Amino acid sequence: MHPDLSDILLSEEELSFRVTELGRELAKEYADKEPLVVATLKGSTIFMSDLVRCMQPVPPNMRLEFIRASSYGSGTTTSGQVSITMSTLSDDDIKGRHILLVEDIVDSGLTGQALTAYFQQHSPASVKLVSLLSKPSRREVPFEPDWLAFEIEDKFVVGYGLDYDQHYRSLPYIGVMKS
Ligand code: IMP
Ligand code: MG
Repeated sequence: MHPDLSDILLSEEELSFRVTELGRELAKEYADKEPLVVATLKGSTIFMSDLVRCMQPVPPNMRLEFIRASSYGSGTTTSGQVSITMSTLSDDDIKGRHILLVEDIVDSGLTGQALTAYFQQHSPASVKLVSLLSKPSRREVPFEPDWLAFEIEDKFVVGYGLDYDQHYRSLPYIGVMKS
């Protein structure tokens, strides 16, 4: 275990088992649709790369895109303002497509809510969100992912894409920071 961590919350094996299961479920869901899978940078890239490789058989015309959303606020609190600061998509790409947003964690719910609203504005066939983690006790707005790998308690976690000040993203497991 990394020396800055106090605990491993989700091991490589637990992550792999659950992500495989979710990938199979999503492959069924999108078997007759053409999903545009959109991962939010940077936290959900590792989850996305494992998840899409478990989506077998590959749904027709599946595409992978990336978007970056930032919420403004100071320290650990957000003001509720979420903006898209980077995207590999043009608004036209969204029209008529089944959008599958991939998130690392739903915390306050603000990012998920804002991203869903943004995609809804551009005439998609559907917009759904899959999240690796969720901390329901932290919700500030009523937003729930359509698919979720793990519900966790209100602890700050890192690894498997999640960071603390840009560190620890490459850890293959999810751990709790030493306080
Ligand atoms: P939101 O509050 O639901 O809008 O989530 C905003 C973002 O906060 C997430 O996408 C993560 O980048 C970050 N975040 C929330 N909780 C944690 C955590 O425990 N570890 C690392 N990042 C977190
Ligand atoms: Mg982050």
